[in-house]
Amino acid sequence: MTETEQALTDQVIARLDGAQDARYRRVMTSLISHLHDFVRDVELTEEEWFSAIQFLTRTGQTCSDLRQEFILLSDTLGVSMLVDAINHRYPAGATETTVFGPFHRPGAPAMKVWSDIAVGTKGQLLFMSGQVLDASTGLPVAGAMLDIWQADGEDGLYDVQRPGVPMLGRGVFRSGDVGHYGLRAIKPTHYPIPSDGPVGEMLRKMGRHPYRPAHIHAMVSAPGYKTLITHVFMDGDPYLGSDAVFGVKDSLIVKPKSHAPGLAPDGTHSAQEFLTIDFDFRLAPASNDTP
Ligand code: BEZ
Ligand code: FE
Repeated sequence: MTETEQALTDQVIARLDGAQDARYRRVMTSLISHLHDFVRDVELTEEEWFSAIQFLTRTGQTCSDLRQEFILLSDTLGVSMLVDAINHRYPAGATETTVFGPFHRPGAPAMKVWSDIAVGTKGQLLFMSGQVLDASTGLPVAGAMLDIWQADGEDGLYDVQRPGVPMLGRGVFRSGDVGHYGLRAIKPTHYPIPSDGPVGEMLRKMGRHPYRPAHIHAMVSAPGYKTLITHVFMDGDPYLGSDAVFGVKDSLIVKPKSHAPGLAPDGTHSAQEFLTIDFDFRLAPASNDTP
């Protein structure tokens, strides 16, 4: 490295002297120093620099009200999961967190226990139930809010990805007196993240596929507890070991149990075969001093 090259980095960092916010100064100092080190490390060519500029320009141009290509870029580079890990260092025993993803919709309908979130959606009938528990005491948490969303069981598409489709595959539940919750859904399938934009191009260039293993999303909140954002993954999915966004954690994988037609967990008679999964959400108390 020439002296001029190092002096340039020092000069850019020194210009942060006027920044009022100490945290901002710290973050930008580190960013500039790593970015310059990266450019020196790979000896970035002018063509590569321009192609990176064009890539970021296309990434911005691909964003819309329904599409956030920068978050997808962060997800596929493992940055979202790293930020998640650093910010949710929950105590042992708490349910592990994972990516939020772009397909949550605020205002999903409030539903009673055992309601069907996927009425008419293609896929195999699945009952999901369990308890919401305090991770430190193991006691039930009554009245917790469970915001659940999923893609369909055949094409792996969320309602928002189908123009003109009303809210489907989502619902907001409350845990009962013993922390119990239960709902009807369909067995999700693996699906590709949106890959017709610059992030898709990047994945192809990296020799990577765009698939996420089958999962159901959950955001669980209750007064006095940290809000939990997680998924429940289906055991046996071929993409569990290579999730395009690095979101899988072993503790979140469950094996659906198959049942012949007959008495279903909601007390009704199911004329069709069905699956059940049992998953408890263990919430970290808000008093724990980790974020
Ligand atoms: C999802 O699981 O919905 C998702 C997460 C990250 C990127 C794309 C989709
Ligand atoms: Fe998803």
